[in-house]
Amino acid sequence: MNPLRSVGARLGLGLAVVVAAALVLVDLIVVPSLERKLTNAKLAQLREAAPSVGVGLANSPSYALDDTIQAAEASTDARVVYFTVLVYNPPTIVVRADSNTVSSADVENDPLALRAFTEFKPVSGTVTSRGEHFAEAAYPLAAGPVVLLRASLHDSLSSIAFVRSRLVVAGLIALGMSLLVGYVAASIFARRIRRLERAADRIASGDFGEPVVDRGRDELGQLAAAFERMRQRLAQLERARREFIANASHELRTPLFSLAGFLELMTDEELDPKTQAEFMATMREQVERLTKLATELLDLSRLDAGRLTVERERIDLSSLAETLAEEFHAVALSTDHHLAVDGGEVEVTALGDEERVLQIGRILVENALVHTPPGTPVRLAAARRNSSALLAVEDEGPGIPPEHSDHIFDRFYRLEGAVASGSGLGLAIARELAELMGGSVELEPAPGRTLFSLVLPATPTDSAISRENERVREPSLQ
Ligand SMILES: Nc1ncnc2c1ncn2[C@@H]1O[C@H](COP(=O)(O)OP(=O)(O)OP(=O)(O)O)[C@@H](O)[C@H]1O
Ligand SMILES: [Mg+2]
Repeated sequence: MNPLRSVGARLGLGLAVVVAAALVLVDLIVVPSLERKLTNAKLAQLREAAPSVGVGLANSPSYALDDTIQAAEASTDARVVYFTVLVYNPPTIVVRADSNTVSSADVENDPLALRAFTEFKPVSGTVTSRGEHFAEAAYPLAAGPVVLLRASLHDSLSSIAFVRSRLVVAGLIALGMSLLVGYVAASIFARRIRRLERAADRIASGDFGEPVVDRGRDELGQLAAAFERMRQRLAQLERARREFIANASHELRTPLFSLAGFLELMTDEELDPKTQAEFMATMREQVERLTKLATELLDLSRLDAGRLTVERERIDLSSLAETLAEEFHAVALSTDHHLAVDGGEVEVTALGDEERVLQIGRILVENALVHTPPGTPVRLAAARRNSSALLAVEDEGPGIPPEHSDHIFDRFYRLEGAVASGSGLGLAIARELAELMGGSVELEPAPGRTLFSLVLPATPTDSAISRENERVREPSLQ
């Protein structure tokens, strides 16, 4: 990168411009106003002293005029010149006495004294004589003479010039310092920014191993903390993705291996029709398992991509429970389960997608049939709870130990020793579908009993009725 375009160079230059602008402002505004103030103070002082000096000189006898004028100079700290009228027309005045005994040539025809005489009023101002600046106050006396007080501005102006030169030196030092400080400060920031940039590049290239660290408590520190949160989340997602792919491929491979093995056996050996039929049955099971797995994986990928949409329509959960019981009637018979619907007297309606609710119901009923021993009952029920509507599936199987209840809805999660026919995806799909409909799937585990409930928002009328009756029916099927 061009060093002049770096943040350091820009900040340093920016600070230098600010300092330079401040210097120019001081020179253009502060110095002239200081000059004006000092000059005005001097003029006021001369104006104030002039009348009494004038009266003193007018009343002084001629022989004492020089002494009086010297005393006036000592008391006013200004040169005192006493003019008398030479001619009235044209107005001409001449120096009669001057406290400066060397020469009066420089005050002859002094414009301010002449103006005071012609306009007959006190006049004050600054004049430049032989390259030096003076403050002057001229005061006309009644009989015509004019007294002029003149004080040099040299001391005041030179102290201002001194202050000004010191200001310039200080400003130049500040300029240099600001360049340096700006550059160093910005370089430190730039280094931190570059570190963040490298971390972002690392994350972008899929390397989530190294944490993003910045100990600063400023905005950059906060940005680094946000980067770190992003890195952790991405690392977590990446882990989940890899795990998912590994699990999915493992689940796919098992039935495929089994199918391949049976195919081999069927081609290689002379099989009697009975064994052949058994093999065919097992192969059909594996194909079904593969088909189910493929469907589940497809559902999950649609859920992940957000491509699965659900309706929000009024559905009757009681009649859906009946439909499920009918659908699984034959399966329950084959697995020797007693599948029944606990009939509620009231109609239970919820807001949701009928197809998706049936899908969740199938997952729950299938689990209750697959993961419980033959001969145990499985019950279905629809119920209301406050402003929710529930579809509950309860069985009397081994139950799910509480330590597993947090993970049971995770993808590919299966209990140790469970019937290994499934892939552990059913409950994950059920929960995600329920959430998509604004509901949830709840598990109420207890030893020797499992109760899964699909909880959906009840339709407004239902909740109104339930509020009115203040009746809470829990989905207990006991
Ligand atoms: N009613 C139940 N009784 C006991 N254990 C259950 C019950 N329902 C689920 N489980 C346990 O929870 C695990 C996860 O269930 P899930 O439905 O997610 O997967 P699965 O049934 O193994 O496979 P599939 O993806 O085919 O449904 C099951 O493997 C089983 O161990
Ligand atoms: Mg299942």
